[in-house]
Amino acid sequence: MSRDNLYAYYREALQGRPLPLAFVDLDRFDANTKAILARAQETPICVASKSIRCVGLLKRILGASPRFQSIMAYSLREAVFLATQGCDNILVAYPVLSEVAARLSHAPQDAFSFRTIFDALRANRTIRLMVDCEAHVSNLEEYGARESVVVPVCIDLDMSTSFPGLYFGVRRSPVRTGEQALALWRCIQECPHVRLDGVMGYEAQIAGVQDSAPRARLKSAIIRRLKKRSLPQVRARRAAVVKALREAGARLQFVNGGGTGSIESTIEEHNVVTEVTVGSGFYAPGLFDHYARFRHQPAAGFALEITRRPAPNVFTCHGGGYIASGPAGSDRLPSIWLPEGAALLPLEGAGEVQTPVHYEGPEKLELGSPVFLRHAKAGELCERFNTLVLISEGRIVDEIPTYRGNGLAFV
Ligand SMILES: Cc1ncc(COP(=O)(O)O)c(C=O)c1O
Repeated sequence: MSRDNLYAYYREALQGRPLPLAFVDLDRFDANTKAILARAQETPICVASKSIRCVGLLKRILGASPRFQSIMAYSLREAVFLATQGCDNILVAYPVLSEVAARLSHAPQDAFSFRTIFDALRANRTIRLMVDCEAHVSNLEEYGARESVVVPVCIDLDMSTSFPGLYFGVRRSPVRTGEQALALWRCIQECPHVRLDGVMGYEAQIAGVQDSAPRARLKSAIIRRLKKRSLPQVRARRAAVVKALREAGARLQFVNGGGTGSIESTIEEHNVVTEVTVGSGFYAPGLFDHYARFRHQPAAGFALEITRRPAPNVFTCHGGGYIASGPAGSDRLPSIWLPEGAALLPLEGAGEVQTPVHYEGPEKLELGSPVFLRHAKAGELCERFNTLVLISEGRIVDEIPTYRGNGLAFV
C-alpha cells in the first residue's frame, strides 16, 4: 500500500477499529531501530524503558541486535516486573527508597516470577539500583543484610553545567566531583551488602533539549551555544570521576551516558563511556523533531474520531488531551500529525474529552473520520492506552498491551 498519502494510509489501515486508539508503525519503528544502531556506531546501547512502556516492543528492540545490551528502568517494581518477563541486565536509573521493601502483591505469576528484587538477585538476574548519597546506600545495606544478598549499585553523576547567572541542566544528583564520588564509594565499601558496579551521567541539557525549537529562533540559538560550551565540561567531569574511582580501586563494569538527543557526542567519549542510553528515538515523538544531527521517523501516534462539526472548518474529536510532563507550555501538547495542515485551536488545545481541530485542506473530513496526533514525549502515550495497535505494510498485524494494559502504573 502506498505511503504517498500518509493520512489515507493510516486511515485505511485502521478502518473499522473503534477510536481512540494508539498505534505504532512497525516499519518506521524498525527503521528507527536500525538508525539508532548506526548512530551509536559500535557502542552498546541501554534501552530506556520509560520511553517504550510496552514489553512486546521492548523485546522487539532487544531482539534486533546484541548491542541492545541492557534496559534502563524507571522504578524497582518495573525492573522486577521486567525480570518476570524474562528480561535481564536492568539498571534502575532513579533512586528508590520504600520500593526496596515493598512486596509486589500483583506481580504476574508465571514460571519465572519474582516477587522482589531479592528473589531476582538470588536467581542471578542483574538488577542494579541508583545511589547518589549515603542515605540511599544505607537503605540498601539494611535490606541487603536482612535478605543476605549483595545489591549492585551505580553512582549517578550530575552532568549539569553552570554559567554566570544560569544553571544549565537538571536537578538530580549532588555528586559532581571526583572527591564527592570517592566519598560515596568509601561509604559503599563499608557496606558488605552493597557493591559498586557502575557510574551513570546523563547530560540532559544536551540530550533532551532540541537544537531548533519551532517559533523560538533566538532561544534556540542561545541553547545551541550553551550546549556547545557545556560539552567540554561534561566530558571533563565524567572522565575525572571515572578516573578517580578506578584509581581508588573501584571495579566499574560500565559507564552509562547520554540519551537519544546526544548519541553522537556521547559516543565520542569512547575511552570513558561504555554504553549510551536511548529510548525516545524508537517512537520519535514531537519533542525529538528538531535536533541538528538526526531525524528519526515519527513511528507512534494516536487516532481520534471526529464526532462533531461545530463550524465548516472545525472538526471536534473525541479524546485527545494527553499532555506531556515537564514545564507546562504549548510544546507539551500533542501535535496534530495528519492530515497535514490541521491544527489545534489555541484557546482550547487538546481537551479532557474533546479536541477541536481546524482544517481546510484537501482531505474530505466528515463525522467518523480519524485525525492522527503525536504525543510530545515517547512512553507517556502508553499511560493513556491499554494497547498499541501495530501496523505494518498498510495493515494491522497485532495489538499488544502497554504497561497500563498489563494493569501496571509505576510512577
Ligand atoms: C537517566 C537518563 N538517561 C537517559 C535518558 C534519555 O532517554 P531518551 O533517549 O528517551 O531521551 C533519560 C531521559 O530522561 C534519563 O533520565
